[in-house]
Amino acid sequence: MEYRQLNNQVDIPTIGFGVWQTKGTETTQAVLDALDAGYRLIDTASRYGNEEAVGAALTHASVPRSEIFLTSKLWKEDYGYEQTLQAFATSLKKLQVTELDLYLLHWPIEDTKNLLDAWRAVEELYDQKKIRAIGVSNFNKAQLEYLIAHSRIKPMVNQIELHPTHAQEATLQDMSDLGILVEAYSPLGHSADLDHPVIQELAAHYSKSPAQIILRWEIQKGIVPLPKSVTPERIKENIAVFDFALTPEAIEQIDQLDTENRINKNPDDIVLH
Ligand code: A2P
Repeated sequence: MEYRQLNNQVDIPTIGFGVWQTKGTETTQAVLDALDAGYRLIDTASRYGNEEAVGAALTHASVPRSEIFLTSKLWKEDYGYEQTLQAFATSLKKLQVTELDLYLLHWPIEDTKNLLDAWRAVEELYDQKKIRAIGVSNFNKAQLEYLIAHSRIKPMVNQIELHPTHAQEATLQDMSDLGILVEAYSPLGHSADLDHPVIQELAAHYSKSPAQIILRWEIQKGIVPLPKSVTPERIKENIAVFDFALTPEAIEQIDQLDTENRINKNPDDIVLH
């Protein structure tokens, strides 16, 4: 596995495995398959309702906990100082672990007091070494700048929706300026971007699958993609992306596909006050 370095010098795998919209034994089996296939980053969230299922996989896995970069997220209804500490403890319990590698505020909220109280609690957990890296998800530049201006520790990660038809060029530049690593959820556009003719053409040219072309594009742009699949063959296919490289021209071709085709909610609709 290749790694990138976060702004606090912690190493993060260049690709991860997402379990959004999976449940129960399906999640457990998918995580076991992912670890077997070589993934070392597992991304869950309390909101996904599958932390227990991820925990069950971790306890059965042959890969030791120390080799797994485990991420979970704080749901916005749990923001606030005490609530955050409680929610974090609940996540640890469900995951059957004693610490997390990465913990993210899942969404910005309008109520800045609650938001900052949540972040203060996360900072303390980081100070206590219960979390190796801390960050946010779905934050735009203004929301991040507000958080940074009103807190002690700058986030290390921002996890956002990103795929060829929603390429987020401006956000990537903003995050690079801030020294914050971008993780991509829905990195395949929920599979819709796989059908794009340019992706199909490049797949034929490189003798790779459309998913491998997209994931390689993300990796070469310095993004950590978190593809989700419950299909063993696809789980393997999505991590088999380290034996080829796209040319700058191919990267540029994919860069042209952006149509701001957002699938999920828009963080810009959340105005801090
Ligand atoms: P499944 O889980 O049934 O295998 P995203 O990560 O962008 O949200 O995309 C996830 C969707 O893409 C899921 O529906 C998943 O289906 C599908 N998918 C994941 N990997 C591949 C792949 N290599 N080829 C085709 N579809 C894939």
